[in-house]
Amino acid sequence: MNIGIDKIGFYVPPFVLDMEDLAVARQVEPAKYTIGIGQSKMAVAPITQDIVSMAANAASMILTQEDKEAIDMVLFGTETGIDQSKSAAVYMQSLLGLSNRIRCVELKHACYGATAALQLAKAHVALNPEAKVLVIASDVAKYGLQSGGEPTQGAGAVAILVAKDPHVLTIDQETSLFSDDVMDFWRPNDCPYPCVDGKFSNEQYMRFFAEVWQDYRDRFNSQLSDFAAVCFHLPYSKMGLKAFKPFLAEEEEELSARLLERYQISTQYNRQIGNVYTGSLFVGFVSLLENCQELTANDKIGFFSYGSGAVGEFFTGHLVEDYEKYLYTDNHQALLANRKPLSVKEYEQIFMDMVDESTSDQDFSDRQDASLVTLRGIKDQKRI
Ligand code: CAA
Repeated sequence: MNIGIDKIGFYVPPFVLDMEDLAVARQVEPAKYTIGIGQSKMAVAPITQDIVSMAANAASMILTQEDKEAIDMVLFGTETGIDQSKSAAVYMQSLLGLSNRIRCVELKHACYGATAALQLAKAHVALNPEAKVLVIASDVAKYGLQSGGEPTQGAGAVAILVAKDPHVLTIDQETSLFSDDVMDFWRPNDCPYPCVDGKFSNEQYMRFFAEVWQDYRDRFNSQLSDFAAVCFHLPYSKMGLKAFKPFLAEEEEELSARLLERYQISTQYNRQIGNVYTGSLFVGFVSLLENCQELTANDKIGFFSYGSGAVGEFFTGHLVEDYEKYLYTDNHQALLANRKPLSVKEYEQIFMDMVDESTSDQDFSDRQDASLVTLRGIKDQKRI
């Protein structure tokens, strides 16, 4: 049975910061951010958008009433959870009007959570062919003002509908995994921002890619020439390239140039959004599908998912005939184009404006945010 991605769409919050402005404010050469790190813009989530509202906005774009009736599971990948107990997934049941007879679970393994969700969703559909699963990747990536990770922040959500006979991508059975207990990026319960060993995290990312790609290549007798493109987890748009380059260098020039060009296309949206943690790999895939005119049905796509802590997975899929008819290109491009540019001062103000659920009730209903779903406030420590 063919199982995979039937629909895929993302949401980004309505504010954006230009990386050149941030560089000037931080007294850094702008080229460090735009070329060295490879980011042009950074999505900024206002107080009216959290992982739940962003996820509901992404899912609302792709789901029809028929899909909603067929969904029997919601798997929500995030590493910026809003609750230690209640699952972010169960908010989808009410916000999207899904059946009560469903399973809703939140999954965590840093940026890998949504890939775990995707594989679990596939296994569920294999056992329940009529079922559809809603997979969510939603995160607000924050490292703190003037921190080393500041230029690699971002925010957004991706919604993926997993079903049999999918319209976009069939996911292959072959996969390669590698887990190792390392401290490259983590967030203890009392920390508002992650602790990160930046350089070490880059090294681990590259090590894990080498581990899973070489294992995949050897076990499944595969080579880079089998692939039309490879998508990477993109904490910033240069990261995947650092890991990919040594392997591209071993290839013939024409193949290497083609994969490199498609890598750049897959980073087009991420360059304008920044890190979406669990969602970054899938924003990259959407960017590839919506901006590369040369892909065709049955093309093989590779995916490298990385979650700090750490786990890597290399999995693959094949594009489905007419996949281009099932994309949301206009919606995505309008979302990106219609964001309000912020000054660095406004961005810093939004940053200081973080939700504090431990204090008194808060009301955000007078804040401007035209998104379909917004966080209206907090009452009795409950999000509205
Ligand atoms: N013009 C062009 N390039 C320039 C430049 C200039 N004027 N100045 C510097 N650069 C280049 C540097 O040469 C460097 O390039 P290379 O990496 O190719 O050598 C690049 O810009 C970045 O410079 P630095 O390494 O000096 O930057 P930094 O010390 O400020 O740290 C960072 C960068 C480690 C990514 C930091 O932003 C960070 O810690 N980010 C968060 C952690 C992260 O994203 N890790 C990624 C792997 S972990 C992961 O993937 C999980 C996840 O999502 C977090």
